[in-house]
Amino acid sequence: MTMAMHPYNALMDITPRPYVVFDRGEGSWLWDDTGKRYLDFIQGWAVNCLGHAPATVADALTAQAKRLLTPSPAYYNDTSLKLAKALITHSCFDQVFFTNSGAEANEGAIKLARKYGALHRNGAYEIITFEGGFHGRTLATMSASGKKAFEPLFEPKVPGFHKALLNDLASVSRLISDKTVAVMLEPIQGEAGVWPATDQFLQQLRELTKAHGLLLIVDEIQTGIGRTGKLFHYEHAGIAPDIMTLGKGIGGGVPLAAVLATSRAACFEHGDQGGTFNGNPLMCAAGLAVLDHVAAPEFLKSTAETGRFLESELQRLSTRHGLGEVRGRGLLLALDLKLPVGAAIVAQAFEQGLLLNSPQPDTLRFMPALNVTREEIGQMIEALDAILIKAGAARLVA
Ligand SMILES: Cc1ncc(COP(=O)(O)O)c(C=O)c1O
Repeated sequence: MTMAMHPYNALMDITPRPYVVFDRGEGSWLWDDTGKRYLDFIQGWAVNCLGHAPATVADALTAQAKRLLTPSPAYYNDTSLKLAKALITHSCFDQVFFTNSGAEANEGAIKLARKYGALHRNGAYEIITFEGGFHGRTLATMSASGKKAFEPLFEPKVPGFHKALLNDLASVSRLISDKTVAVMLEPIQGEAGVWPATDQFLQQLRELTKAHGLLLIVDEIQTGIGRTGKLFHYEHAGIAPDIMTLGKGIGGGVPLAAVLATSRAACFEHGDQGGTFNGNPLMCAAGLAVLDHVAAPEFLKSTAETGRFLESELQRLSTRHGLGEVRGRGLLLALDLKLPVGAAIVAQAFEQGLLLNSPQPDTLRFMPALNVTREEIGQMIEALDAILIKAGAARLVA
C-alpha cells in the first residue's frame, strides 16, 4: 500500500507508526491490507488476552448490541451488575466502578484515595508511587507515573505524588508523613521494562501500609486478568490490597477498565464520580465473556504453563546469543538484550511479519495472547533467533 492510498494525515501524529494498515486478526495473527500476515506478540499491549477477534467476545458483543446498548449510567443495567458481581466473587474486593480506560481507572483510584483521606485521615492526600512506574496519560496519572520522559511535559504536574524505589521498603517508609493516604504500584512495572516487585516486597508493603493506616493500591491494568498465570497478580504474594485497577485484558480488545475496592475504601459519595459510558452494557458484555473464559482454573493453569515454556525458550535464546536475563511472570516477560538494539530488532521483526515490543532500548517485552500455542512460540523464537544471528554477524563485521 502506498502512503497516498490511506489518509494517514487525518489522524494526529502522536507516535511514529509504520505505514501499514491492519484490517483483520485471528488468534495470534494479524493481516495488513496487502494480505501480509504478522505473528503478534504485542496483542494491543497485553490487551487481547484471548487473541484477535475471539468468537466468545464477538458473540457476546453481538448479542448485547441487539438487546441493549446503554440505558444511561443513571440507571442499573443487568450486564454491568453481573460483571461487577463476578469480579468481586473472584477477588478480595467488595465493589466495582467501571471505566473506559486504564488511566481513567487509575484517576478513579486516586480520587478514591483522596476521598478516603478527607474522610478518615484529616485531609491527607499524598500518594507514594514508584520511580519507573506507569499509570496512564491523564494529567494526574502522568504525575503519578515515575517515567522520566513525562517529567518535562504538561507542567505544572498534579501535586501529591512522591516517588519511592521499587523493592526498597526503606525508601517508602521515608516518604510517609501525616499527609500520606496511600501507596500505589504496578506489581510488575511494564513500561519500565518488566521489572517485578518481589512477593516479599508486596507483603512488606501490605504490612507497612496497614501499620500506618494507609491504602494499598495495585495497578493491575497490565498484570490482571490472567496475564501472570493467576487471575490477579496480588494472589502470588498472598496479600489483600484495598484498591485494584484493571484495564487492558478485561475487555479482551474493547475499551473497558475498572476500579475495585474493599467496602471500607469504596467511599465515594453521590456526585464524586461518574461518566457517560461507565459500565455501559456493551463493553461489560465483552468483560463477562472474557472473565468466564480466563477465570476457569484450567485456563489459568495452562497460561502459567505456557508462560514457563516461553520463559525457558527465551532463556535458551539468551544463552545461545550471550544476552542477559529473562524477567517477568506468566505471559508478561522481558529479555535483556544487554545493548540498545531493541528498536532495530523490532523493526527487522516487523519486516519479517513478527510484532515485538521494546519498552526500553535494551529490552524486548513479550505479551502474547494468553492462549498462544507452543507452536506459535516456537515460530516467534525461530524468527527472533534468525534476527539475532544476523545482528551478531553485523556486530562482528562492524
Ligand atoms: C500499568 C498500567 N497502568 C495504566 C495504563 C493506562 O491504561 P490506558 O492506556 O488504558 O489508559 C497502562 C497502559 O499501558 C498500564 O500498563
